[in-house]
Amino acid sequence: MLEVRNVTRIFGTRAAVDNISFTIDRPAFVGIIGRSGAGKSTFLRMMNRLTDASSGQIMVEGQDILSLRGPARRAWQSHCAMIFQQFNLVPRMDVASNVLHGLLNRRSTLATMFNLWPRNDILRALQILDRLGIAEQAPKRAEALSGGQQQRVAIARALMQDPKIILADEPIASLDPMNAQVVMDTLKRINIEDGRMVIANLHTLDTARRYCDRVIGMRDGRIVFDGTPAQLSTGVARDIYGADASFNEAATSTAIPADTAADHAYAERLLT
Ligand SMILES: Nc1ncnc2c1ncn2[C@@H]1O[C@H](COP(=O)(O)OP(=O)(O)OP(=O)(O)O)[C@@H](O)[C@H]1O
Ligand SMILES: [Mg+2]
Repeated sequence: MLEVRNVTRIFGTRAAVDNISFTIDRPAFVGIIGRSGAGKSTFLRMMNRLTDASSGQIMVEGQDILSLRGPARRAWQSHCAMIFQQFNLVPRMDVASNVLHGLLNRRSTLATMFNLWPRNDILRALQILDRLGIAEQAPKRAEALSGGQQQRVAIARALMQDPKIILADEPIASLDPMNAQVVMDTLKRINIEDGRMVIANLHTLDTARRYCDRVIGMRDGRIVFDGTPAQLSTGVARDIYGADASFNEAATSTAIPADTAADHAYAERLLT
């Protein structure tokens, strides 16, 4: 389905992504992990053609998507929707219109300017919102929603493009553990029910282990691990994160820490 061949991206004199290769042969849920600066975002941005590669190829259905230009490049971009840590919604615009903006690549500027959408598209946007459990938010401004709800709107906007692949760059890094779980569950559902490939940069090990079929570990622009969550031992993780013997998995965890729960219980007792 997807073959990454010797892809490199150089900034100045330094390779942010250094000659990486891998193949994904089914619509899997793939997690990319690694410490800050490892090259995770740069890779996703090359996949989506937001950044050009310095060299290499990414083959999808016999085509090198890195060589696409103009309309072909835009068509590819709508086939691999991107989700960001900061949601990237239009805050003052209503939720339904935000979702409809997933179709932007395919519409005239004038129709978009006047917020004119075909009835079928509006119905589809509402169906997608309903599927993600946020239909009742449709008329509200995006900024009025919680972070978890906003990220689901961003996922709905992505689905509006009917993408083959969903690229998510730290989709839960700005969310509390409860909302993080809802968003990851949503991505997993879309992966399984629709057969869309998901490639997500994740900064926590426990999330990668829980949701991914396959985990790719990057360090200094290179792939240092490529395997199943079961193969991702603490030792391997230590190697990916480049930490010493004091490496602590909890530092990369999104779970609710026990002492925070205890703090809440204590505060509640004081208040009653
Ligand atoms: N536009 C740019 N110009 C120059 N250097 C860049 C640019 N974008 C990224 N880099 C550098 O490339 C390297 C990889 O950055 P990248 O953002 O891909 O890392 P990351 O793994 O996503 O990190 P994080 O976990 O912090 O998001 C870093 O050293 C970064 O400073
Ligand atoms: Mg990043």
